[in-house]
Amino acid sequence: MKYDFETVHKRFNTGSGKWCEMAKYGVSESDDIIPFSVADMEFVTPPEIVDAIKTQLDTSIMGYENPTPEYLAAVCEWMRVRRNWDAKPEWILPSNGVVDAFFRAVQTYTCEGDGVMIMTPVYHPMYMAVNFNGRKLVSNPLINTGTRYEIDFADMERRASDPNTKMLILCSPHNPVGRVWTRDELTRIGEICLRHDVLVVSDEIHFDLIMPGHVHTVFASISDEFAQNCLVMTAPSKTFNIAGLQTSNIFIPNKSLREKYLASLKLSNPNPKCNILGYVACEAGYKFCGEWLDECLKVIDANRRVITDFMAHEFPAVKVHVLEGTYLLWLDLRGLGLGHKELERVNREEARLFFDEGYVFGEQGECFERWNIACPERYVRGALERMKECYSRHMK
Ligand SMILES: Cc1ncc(COP(=O)(O)O)c(C=O)c1O
Repeated sequence: MKYDFETVHKRFNTGSGKWCEMAKYGVSESDDIIPFSVADMEFVTPPEIVDAIKTQLDTSIMGYENPTPEYLAAVCEWMRVRRNWDAKPEWILPSNGVVDAFFRAVQTYTCEGDGVMIMTPVYHPMYMAVNFNGRKLVSNPLINTGTRYEIDFADMERRASDPNTKMLILCSPHNPVGRVWTRDELTRIGEICLRHDVLVVSDEIHFDLIMPGHVHTVFASISDEFAQNCLVMTAPSKTFNIAGLQTSNIFIPNKSLREKYLASLKLSNPNPKCNILGYVACEAGYKFCGEWLDECLKVIDANRRVITDFMAHEFPAVKVHVLEGTYLLWLDLRGLGLGHKELERVNREEARLFFDEGYVFGEQGECFERWNIACPERYVRGALERMKECYSRHMK
């Protein structure tokens, strides 16, 4: 490997929520245990990005900045080369994060009481975007076929055909179930939404984290009709582990939708801006860090294999879902026979395992765990040993 995927910086006293959570359970630096929860990586940032930020710091220019033509060109070039999508710079609205953007989309394009569909279990802030804004949550439950989820298209069509349903928030690739929706599946989603006049908000923040053998299709790239009926939300934050820089790129190909979004932004700030270092990092990532990403994906895929093989041999009752995309492995632990709260307790207090509890993503996630596997393999192996020791005692 050309890059360093072994160094882990302990973040106990840095304000990292997931590290602080472990400290609450008495874990300290000397335990050499890392958290497997919140979706940032336990890898150091690509050196090209660190260098670009240092260069910017050396100029001592930290003033207001708009995205430069070079920045927009780098974003579009990444979309063209890596994501096979011919996006135009004028479609891009930089944003301080994707969550911020899908909350705003709900506020901009729907009214109180309108139905907003999500495909559950799903990334929990999507529920919040609907509920906190007084919209009606329309759940289209995914079908668990064992170690992979499928879309219930008949249910989706039925729910979309309700005239009150105005928006679908699509999670693509899907967090937490790890699906990379195929072109065919996305086409069926897009057609249903067009038939029933449902706007698609496509959160594609994980779109660069695609495992071997799978292909991510940007929703808007499928057809011009789809492009005109969607927002595509992207970011370099998961890709290069720079989530703390809160820089994302929201693509809105449809001019009138774009103008509506801008008008809504201006209601809270007439001159919205992003972070100068975020722009620098994003541009450097898209220009120089393709090789880093390729190596990173290999490390994640190797971790996935280690866990899948381990469970097959040691705990066949634990089902490891196929990881097609993201670095968040979805584990079905219902076979252990523990309730979800007891499972959480056993993991944290006995096994010293700090996952994201599956129930956070909706009740279909009870007794599941979401395991962030973007970390050095030695931590995965350490966790598996603790699991073996502890789960054997609890197996019913
Ligand atoms: C699907 C999804 N969307 C958005 C985010 C967070 O986006 P941001 O940090 O840009 O607000 C995450 C982070 O885990 C995510 O998984």
